[in-house]
Amino acid sequence: MIDYSRYDRVRAVAFTGSTLELLDQRRLPFAQDTVVARDVDAVAQAIRDLVVRGAPAIGIAAAWGVVLAGDALGDVDADAARTALEPAMARLNAARPTAVNLAWALRRMRRALDIAGGDWRARLHAEARAIEREDLAANRHMGHLGAALIEPGSDVLTHCNTGSLATAGFGTALGVIRAGVAERRIDNVYACETRPWLQGARLTVWELQQDGIPATLIADSAASYLLHGGRVKWIVVGADRITANGDVANKIGTYQLAIAAKYHGVKFMVVAPSSTVDMDTASGAQIEIELREANELLGYAGQRTVAEGIAAWNPVFDVTPAELVDAIVTERGVIHRPDAARMAEWMRAHVG
Ligand code: MRU
Repeated sequence: MIDYSRYDRVRAVAFTGSTLELLDQRRLPFAQDTVVARDVDAVAQAIRDLVVRGAPAIGIAAAWGVVLAGDALGDVDADAARTALEPAMARLNAARPTAVNLAWALRRMRRALDIAGGDWRARLHAEARAIEREDLAANRHMGHLGAALIEPGSDVLTHCNTGSLATAGFGTALGVIRAGVAERRIDNVYACETRPWLQGARLTVWELQQDGIPATLIADSAASYLLHGGRVKWIVVGADRITANGDVANKIGTYQLAIAAKYHGVKFMVVAPSSTVDMDTASGAQIEIELREANELLGYAGQRTVAEGIAAWNPVFDVTPAELVDAIVTERGVIHRPDAARMAEWMRAHVG
């Protein structure tokens, strides 16, 4: 049995009753500062600026953003609240384009408003709390389902940060890794540094260190050589959007890891709650991939590292085709070798 209290040391998002406290992920691991968002626009700004990041965490933050916007309204009925909150929800939705969890959380908040009768404000609070609670439960369940696929004695490689910092707690891919270490299936954890924002170097290895799980950092460019060594049996990553045919949008660099995994006979696991599955989008080709400022690539921590006048292209996600994925682990079961038919079958059997 896993001692979950061991993994509950880091929280990205905390609603205080009147404000949203966000652990400032731009400053980790050297400072644990909190950004206090007092209104919905501060939440949208924090999502845009990567104060809070990771697909489930931005959905949760957005839900609390709607709560803050609702609490700021005067004495209005549910219909008036719905009309007044639409522009705020649109601003939250526009904060980042790729992770579908944002739109999913806002849809749930809208539905909570639509229920007739009762106290609409209380419903918004309850819904945001439920989104957060369900995410933590999903992560714990996925941890078991994913770890069960890993043969004892394996090394694993992960990319980006998919832990408590990116979710309500425990994590998606990092949850599987935590469960796999606790169940003694995983011997060694390798983490890609995840250029350019360094989610792996700054967040993942730090988060694992809080749990006493040793992890070894590698340069992104060392991944194929590591796989060539033969000890890594699984690459375990999260997702920002999984489309109806099983394509997976995730942090830039995931696609090249999946290609390298296929070449070396290493298995490739994607771990994501059902809130990340977007059956309305047919394939990865239709996903909007966020392009961020060239500056994120041209320097680090305010220090320019590249000569002036150099152009840079900075897509922060890519799409891994379903055919490179061995398993998608959700809280509603595992989809092995995903394709459109298996995704539809999963949907029919587990989601309805
Ligand atoms: O740009 P980020 O840091 O928000 O990107 C995060 C990722 O790509 C994660 O792998 C994904 O959101 C899953 S987090 C559980």
